[in-house]
Amino acid sequence: MLFTFGAIAGLAGIALGLPHPWEEASGPIRILPHSWVFNITSLSGPGCPDFGDTAAVFSTRPTFGMNTVDGSEIYYWHFAYPNLRASVGPGAATSSIWCETTLTYAELDRLGTPPAKPEYRLKAHKNGTAMIATYDLEDGVVAEWKFTYYPAGKEPVVDTITVAGPVSPTSIRHNSPVTELAQWAMPDCGTGSIRYRTELTVTAKKDGARGAVSSDQVQYEGKSEFYGAQQGVSYDWEKCAA
Ligand SMILES: *[C@@H]1O[C@H](CO)[C@@H](O)[C@H](O)[C@H]1NC(C)=O
Ligand SMILES: *[C@@H]1O[C@H](CO)[C@@H](O)[C@H](O)[C@H]1NC(C)=O
Repeated sequence: MLFTFGAIAGLAGIALGLPHPWEEASGPIRILPHSWVFNITSLSGPGCPDFGDTAAVFSTRPTFGMNTVDGSEIYYWHFAYPNLRASVGPGAATSSIWCETTLTYAELDRLGTPPAKPEYRLKAHKNGTAMIATYDLEDGVVAEWKFTYYPAGKEPVVDTITVAGPVSPTSIRHNSPVTELAQWAMPDCGTGSIRYRTELTVTAKKDGARGAVSSDQVQYEGKSEFYGAQQGVSYDWEKCAA
């Protein structure tokens, strides 16, 4: 099996990664801390108006982690954005929406607390960006996701995913093409922060063509709610000097 899923924090506001010890006993050498956590510490933009709304079940939130176990060490954590949705139709040939997110990261020890001496340094952008979204696009409609990461003191790094209609309503996970794969290391071991802007643009290149990008809808307490399009942020680690 290529993928293992980290602990699924589900609807909770935090995301906690837990490696699987039985996979470390044999097989490829893996480089990862005992456990780790990502939190969303800031959100801005029309695509994420719900920062701090802890009462909302389907708020902008971390959802799940996944990673390879074949030695390639590709890790993703996903973040759901219920309000990142856009559509076009007669009279509206283009529509876009965006959100800016800051994540904080912390290494955790066996007790679930940050260790006094962290052992790993997080490196962002191991394998571009993934996006799980629901597309309903007529012929002539194109959806584009643009992910701009802002590493401190470096040039921004941009990933894109383009989906062209016709696509009948379906939820799909895409990876951005890995063109110029840039990784950047956090300045310190055991902690870090990743800031990025997510922008969705839907364009009808044919007059009056319809298209919508959203996420799966789920029933919750008798109401239909958007689960949230889920951005997969990729990373891995390097061992810190002893
Ligand atoms: C993440 O959030 C939890 C719960 O609010 C908090 O206990 C923890 O310290 C936070 N960790 C980071 C790395 O921000
Ligand atoms: C890494 O990115 C490439 C290029 O988009 C993709 O084909 C591959 O599936 C990705 N790997 C994982 C483990 O997601």
